[in-house]
Amino acid sequence: MSDWVFQSTDEEQTLKLGIQLGRLLEQPALILLQGTLGAGKSVLARGIARGLGVDPQVPITSPTFTLMNHYPARLDLYHFDLYRLSDVDELIVIGFDDFAYGSGVALVEWPERLDNDETPGLWVELQHTGEEQRKIVFTAKSTATEQLLAALQDLCGE
Ligand SMILES: Nc1ncnc2c1ncn2[C@@H]1O[C@H](COP(=O)(O)OP(=O)(O)OP(=O)(O)O)[C@@H](O)[C@H]1O
Ligand SMILES: [Mg+2]
Repeated sequence: MSDWVFQSTDEEQTLKLGIQLGRLLEQPALILLQGTLGAGKSVLARGIARGLGVDPQVPITSPTFTLMNHYPARLDLYHFDLYRLSDVDELIVIGFDDFAYGSGVALVEWPERLDNDETPGLWVELQHTGEEQRKIVFTAKSTATEQLLAALQDLCGE
């Protein structure tokens, strides 16, 4: 398990970090985005979508009521927001595992709702450290995402 911390000073920087991460995605991946309301999970998700090649004309909005939005791109992108998930059984109804461990990239906001801290994937925790400052902690919890994280660190680290 490896960790990497990125200090973002504004929304633009978080977006760019997401774009770099999205560009690096060549294999199916599960990315779990943690953080309180307004931490920047959706900003990072938007960047990842752009980097993955989602049509720039298509708005990337939080799938709060539908739980998931699908965007065709280099790899299919499935953007989940589980904030309103009331029961883990609902995950079966929406076919969560098929998307999370399928042939595309799954982004999950509010992964706490999965009730499994050890879900294999790239965990990202965004913390408010100032009005526009965010501490972004990446933890790779699978071999594939360890390589992804190392590549991101090479690109974006000092
Ligand atoms: N460094 C930063 N990185 C990301 N967002 C920032 C930053 N500084 C300020 N912001 C602002 O914080 C807000 C982040 O909103 P966003 O919708 O991404 O949060 P979220 O974590 O997805 O929240 P929710 O749980 O409600 O979905 C935006 O209004 C954005 O402009
Ligand atoms: Mg959001």
